[in-house]
Amino acid sequence: MYEATATAPVNIACIKYWGKRDTKLILPTNSSLSVTLDQDHLRSTTTSRADESFAAGDRLWLNGKEETIKEGGRLGVCIKGLRAWRKQVEENDSSLPKLSEWPLRIASYNNFPTAAGLASSASGLAALVASLARLYQLPQTPSQLSIIARQGSGSACRSLFGGFVAWREGSDAAGSDSLAEEVAPREHWPEMHALICVVSDAKKGTSSTSGMQRTVETSTLLQERLRIVPGRMDAISKAIQDKDFESFAKITMVDSNSFHSVCLDTSPPIFYLNDVSKSIIAVIEELNRSSGKIIAAYTFDAGPNAVIYALEENMPKVLGAINKFFPTAEESEDPFRTTAEDLPASFDYKVVREGGWEKGAVKSLIHTRVGDGPRTLGKEDSLLKESGEPK
Ligand code: DP6
Repeated sequence: MYEATATAPVNIACIKYWGKRDTKLILPTNSSLSVTLDQDHLRSTTTSRADESFAAGDRLWLNGKEETIKEGGRLGVCIKGLRAWRKQVEENDSSLPKLSEWPLRIASYNNFPTAAGLASSASGLAALVASLARLYQLPQTPSQLSIIARQGSGSACRSLFGGFVAWREGSDAAGSDSLAEEVAPREHWPEMHALICVVSDAKKGTSSTSGMQRTVETSTLLQERLRIVPGRMDAISKAIQDKDFESFAKITMVDSNSFHSVCLDTSPPIFYLNDVSKSIIAVIEELNRSSGKIIAAYTFDAGPNAVIYALEENMPKVLGAINKFFPTAEESEDPFRTTAEDLPASFDYKVVREGGWEKGAVKSLIHTRVGDGPRTLGKEDSLLKESGEPK
């Protein structure tokens, strides 16, 4: 049986990707940089199988539900690109089975609920690319594979690496140099932790894809952002190399705020932050001020959830502050809960609205850390039945 199963991680950007210069090839208007989160907590798993006896046409299931693979669509483009690379491998060695000609069955599963509002496209597309690359025994490097993943969803290219990852915007019109690269492996700075605050939000927001396109078309502030970002990329890479948390945090927060500013400068404006998100910003800013140094950094993607980066040693302080002002509906089982600390003596309570937030304003917390890149699993972890349908 020709089959491979792989997992891929979620990544959260410190320097945000927001804007495409080519919407078809998914080429960005600026380079971006992210931290890969630990797959022990959040991951997508994908099994790909090629079989001569399958009925013609590829089929794919996401969390048990079949998705259509459109030719020229994002999934279709990724599968086609990897198949073409497999064909080259077969042409160089005629003894190999012609997997490139056989229909595929693919099942993918996220271990985190879509309702949590966490982006699943990055880990999902990266797991798809990793599993097919394994199935096809491709010789390409993770950076080369990231060129394919990028065409599935821009941010997915960064999920092909662990640790601290840059997506270089590149200059080639065909996109051959718009790829992901490792800035530092997880082992370089394993003390980097992340606390995801899942903020409840009933209404469905603007998707990243359409939102960023509207920004490119209407925001004048975006031009200023594009002038600033290259300097930030250099500065944050240096902060990571030097393990300089304060610089890392300053840049992360200012870039998140810059991204949400260009969203507001878009016409019609896009609001991803809600009042709870803004209150988390105020609490973290005040925690940093009253601690006498920057110990935590917030960042927000295209939604109200906060991701707070902090070093392991400071997580008890961050958890103390978040638990105090944003009590979750359910008690968390985080072992750090027991070490949560009181607020610094000079913390100004006035930064949070009077009476505080009701229980559940922050639905849940996910405490995780910097993690590794895609992993391959064994046969026993297959998501496909004998028949090629999802289990
Ligand atoms: C705010 O990668 O989801 O999370 O390329 O259109 O699929 P498409 O967009 P997507 O955008 C992610 C935007 C972001 C910032 C980031 O991850 O860098």
